[in-house]
Amino acid sequence: MKFGNWGKVAVVALGVAALSSTVSAQDKETLVKNRVDFMKAAAADNKAIGDYAKGMATKEQATKAINDLVERSTKIVALFPAGTSSADMPGKSNAKPDIWTDHAKFVGIAAALHDAAVKEAEVIKTGTPEEVGTAQAALGRTGCGGCHGPFREKLPG
Ligand code: HEC
Repeated sequence: MKFGNWGKVAVVALGVAALSSTVSAQDKETLVKNRVDFMKAAAADNKAIGDYAKGMATKEQATKAINDLVERSTKIVALFPAGTSSADMPGKSNAKPDIWTDHAKFVGIAAALHDAAVKEAEVIKTGTPEEVGTAQAALGRTGCGGCHGPFREKLPG
């Protein structure tokens, strides 16, 4: 009886802790879902530019896509707050924990994607579709694949 009130406080505190951890788990799941959607939109940009290089899309479509990609490249790092790795959220996140232990490298690759996208915007403006194809292959290899190799879990299937 002597600890009755403290017991009550502890129960309330536990309840709040449980509630807030449930909410933040949901927030994290939404964050990861939005992050994957964001990446899929970047992949759609890549496809539009690749189509332009093959003569299957207009220059206007390629320009729209590269402008979107330039903007996205500046937002990637912020999509990866600590606590959202594949170790924190198994089966939900494919973000390797290495992102946070080797963060400078991760940030550097996002910056390299940005540089490649800015350069490619210029090639789309002034170059031939063939030259765009070459620039696009390099961007995909270094900017996208360059990060997925070290920092994304192998996707199933
Ligand atoms: C700096 C690192 C980085 C860069 C740059 C990057 N990605 Fe990603 N990408 C990731 C990580 C990490 C994941 C896993 C995210 C998760 O599961 O929460 C991911 C996930 C994805 C997915 C989702 C796959 C799925 O279905 O789960 C696609 C598609 C994708 N990226 C495409 C791209 C494309 C296209 C580019 C280049 C234009 C790109 N990414 C650039 C790190 C990066």
